[in-house]
Parts: sequence; structure tokens; C-alpha cells
Amino acid sequence: MSLLEVSGLTIRSASAAPVRDVSFAVDAGERLGVIGESGSGKSLTSLAATGLLPSSLTPSGSILLDGREVVGARDAVLRPLRGPVVQIVFQEPLTALDPLMRVGRQIAEPMRRHLGLRGGALRDAVAAALDEVALPDPRIARAFPHELSGGQRQRIAIAIALAARPRLLIADEPTTALDVTVQHGVLSLLERLVAVRGMALLFISHDLAVVSRMAERLVVLQNGSVVEEGPVARVLAAPGHPYTRALVASARALDDVLDGAGS
Ligand SMILES: Nc1ncnc2c1ncn2[C@@H]1O[C@H](COP(=O)(O)OP(=O)(O)OP(=O)(O)O)[C@@H](O)[C@H]1O
Ligand SMILES: [Mg+2]
Repeated sequence: MSLLEVSGLTIRSASAAPVRDVSFAVDAGERLGVIGESGSGKSLTSLAATGLLPSSLTPSGSILLDGREVVGARDAVLRPLRGPVVQIVFQEPLTALDPLMRVGRQIAEPMRRHLGLRGGALRDAVAAALDEVALPDPRIARAFPHELSGGQRQRIAIAIALAARPRLLIADEPTTALDVTVQHGVLSLLERLVAVRGMALLFISHDLAVVSRMAERLVVLQNGSVVEEGPVARVLAAPGHPYTRALVASARALDDVLDGAGS
């Protein structure tokens, strides 16, 4: 059984169906990339997988998370899954952070709730979590989100997402809002944490180079539907769908420009 199994997922609004008949699965410890242009349904799919769709949107089909049905589930069923089973890191770190709470406390809260840590053990775990996201300065724990840089905030959002030791991390364009040099550091950090913890990763991006680096297998979304799926190496070497061919060709063209600039 896969850790996340999406089958025939359709998401409807009052006037449209922005996601149609999407199916894919993520096994424990696997890294799956989802790529697609803006508006192709990447974020709605990841929100549906965690039961976080806005109430104006209605999902149908099936989403099994660790064997439990998410589509139509009550909050009492979903709440225990968020944390130990699945967590999301969003594009904009501020959406995940409480502006009025020191960041150390925001990391401590899920550790207290889900791992039952208290007192000195909790303090040590928060320090270790900050160290793990390469923010070892103890002053960071006492900072408020607005006192940190964008890259530091995203590292904190990652530390909060990982605090309850989820088995699946969904990263929805986690570096798109960061400048390029900072992006690289956050991607390396995610790569390392996923490997060290043996976590599964659902990595969402519109950037082929970035998803190819982070994932072993790719799902290509266009206009709310899956148009191609396969191992990264195969998709890059022999893209089957015209949209994927266009993505690969434009990534190559960019590479050529960069190579030309460097020589
Ligand atoms: N709350 C909503 N109600 C109705 N339609 C919505 C809602 N949220 C998103 N949509 C529509 O669903 C489609 C898919 O949106 P989604 O946010 O999943 O795209 P995306 O692939 O994540 O794009 P991006 O790369 O820009 O983040 C879009 O056309 C969007 O307009
Ligand atoms: Mg999105």
C-alpha cells in the first residue's frame, strides 16, 4: 500500500473543474515531483491531499493517506494525520507562521502535541530542530517571523513542518518566493533532511530543473489533468507528451544560453 494514493481526483468549483481525474501514488520513502504551468492544479491537488481545500471547492474520487480516506473526511479524522503522517511547506513561508508567536514556540508546539515532549527534552528538541535547518544561533528561537529574512523564514517553516516527524512532506513551490542563491541552500537542506529521515516527498514546481533534481519520478499536470508520468531520467530523455517535450526543450534552451554565457 502506498503512503499517498490519489485515484480519480476531480475538484469542482461552482463554475469549473480545475482538477480532473488525477491519479498518482507516493510510496513510503519515495520522492515524487509534480510539474505543471501556473493554474494547472498543483496546489489544489496538494491541498486536497491534506484535506485543506477551501469550502468553495468540492473534491470527488479518492485520496488515501496511510490507508485512510481524506475525501469527505471530517476534521476529527484529518487532524491526527496532519503532523505525524503529512505536512505541507508552502511557497510563501509567512502563510505557515504565526506573526505574534516567537518561532521557537511554533516549532515546540507540534513537538509537545504529537511527540509528548516537555521541559528540558522539549527545549533540546527545538534547539536540535533549529540546528537541523542550519539556524543554530539561539537568538533565532526568540525571534518573531518579521525579524527574519525570507530564507530564514522558509527554514523555520520547514522546521515546523518536520517537528512532528511526518512520513510524507508535501513541498508546494517551497523556493519560488526566494532569491536564487537562497533557493539553492533551501533545496539542499530539503534534500538532506528527506534522505536522513527516509521521508517521502511530494515536490511541486513549475521548474523542470528543480523538480528533476528533487524527485525520482515525475507527474506532469496540464490544465488540471495528468498528461505524463514516469521516472525522471526517462521523462527527460524521451518525453512522450507534446507539453512535456516543450518543457524539456525550453529547459535545454536555457541550459544552452547559460553554457554559452559561461564559455
Ligand atoms: N478557491 C478557488 N475557487 C475556484 N477556483 C480556484 C480556487 N483556487 C484555485 N482555483 C483555480 O484552479 C486552478 C488551479 O489552481 P492551482 O492553485 O492549483 O494552480 P497551480 O498549478 O498551483 O498554479 P501556480 O503554479 O500558479 O501556483 C486555477 O485556474 C485557479 O484559478
Ligand atoms: Mg500553486
